[in-house]
Amino acid sequence: MFKEEEINDRLSIFRNDKIHFINSFEEDVKTGLTSEKKYLLPKYFYDEKGSELFEKICKTKEYYPTRSETEILDILSDTISERNIDKNMIIELGSGTSVKTELLIRSFLKEREELVYIPLDVSNIIIESSRQLTENYSNLIINGVISFYEEGMEFIVSRFNSPKIILFLGSSIGNFTPGESIEFMRMLAKYMNETDRLLIGFDLVKERKILEDAYNDSDGITAEFNLNILSRINRELNADFKIENFKHKSVFNEEDSRIEMYLESLSDMNVDLKSIDEKIKLKKGELIHTENSYKFNKKMINELAERSGLVFSDYYTDEKEYFSLCAFRLNRNF
Ligand SMILES: C[S@@+](CC[C@H](N)C(=O)[O-])C[C@H]1O[C@@H](n2cnc3c(N)ncnc32)[C@H](O)[C@@H]1O
Repeated sequence: MFKEEEINDRLSIFRNDKIHFINSFEEDVKTGLTSEKKYLLPKYFYDEKGSELFEKICKTKEYYPTRSETEILDILSDTISERNIDKNMIIELGSGTSVKTELLIRSFLKEREELVYIPLDVSNIIIESSRQLTENYSNLIINGVISFYEEGMEFIVSRFNSPKIILFLGSSIGNFTPGESIEFMRMLAKYMNETDRLLIGFDLVKERKILEDAYNDSDGITAEFNLNILSRINRELNADFKIENFKHKSVFNEEDSRIEMYLESLSDMNVDLKSIDEKIKLKKGELIHTENSYKFNKKMINELAERSGLVFSDYYTDEKEYFSLCAFRLNRNF
């Protein structure tokens, strides 16, 4: 299922079988767009263009999560490295360009002769960033994995065995419902030994305006990112969405503690998805839900840990307390 490409003597990329990707995309789009309340899964944002747009979002003045998490890692990477001196392997899920992770990698390499870094992402973006990292650090070995999370983790633990830290940064956990987060954290706990640690970035609840602006930047990059999923469907499923007939919309749902992102149809329309032999109708004002981004507090994080078989061991935040990085270990009594 995984094919290995050797990029250089310290960098290999393991790619999940392509057919599997295509089938799941077709099925998921079909299920989402034919259900009563239409939706698309956020994991499909990240084609090449989507990954580039996400990098741009991180640099907008409104999108504070990247800056806040970087601030935490800037200050705490050495401490995290020292506290985990027994570990020489970092696995990162949804690593993207690994920009923030480089801070941790640098600290780890100060104290170790060698470090194995395993970025796992559905996007090809990891190839170039991993190549750059191996050029920057002569004692870094990278085994990149291009896959969805679950299959990727299963492959990684079957192939690489060493005391490890697992990273899940960027508040990607917020894209899951609470039930999915528990399922996801349980899946990770299953692959952890007693000495392993899991570090997750959680975006914290804050003032509505700060939250909503972060998902509706004034340069319109988030809007472009959201709309790009329709261009991807047009291209890959031979569909005819008229992109200009949709509007990006994001709103903070306080009761459920989450930002909800939608694509709003600006007119009545028919869309033909030729590759999957499906025709859909949209009414003016109808919404396609594209992403949730949950916002947390310490109590919510603790509950997730308790229900996942993990112990919440460290809580780090930035100065403004916008974002937190949390460490977990296995709960032996679960
Ligand atoms: C919000 S970005 C975060 C990137 C980076 N960790 C950061 O903090 O800036 C989410 C990343 O996860 C990847 N991703 C999303 N869903 C995924 C899935 N189901 N399996 C594997 N990777 C996924 C995307 O390609 C993207 O690079």
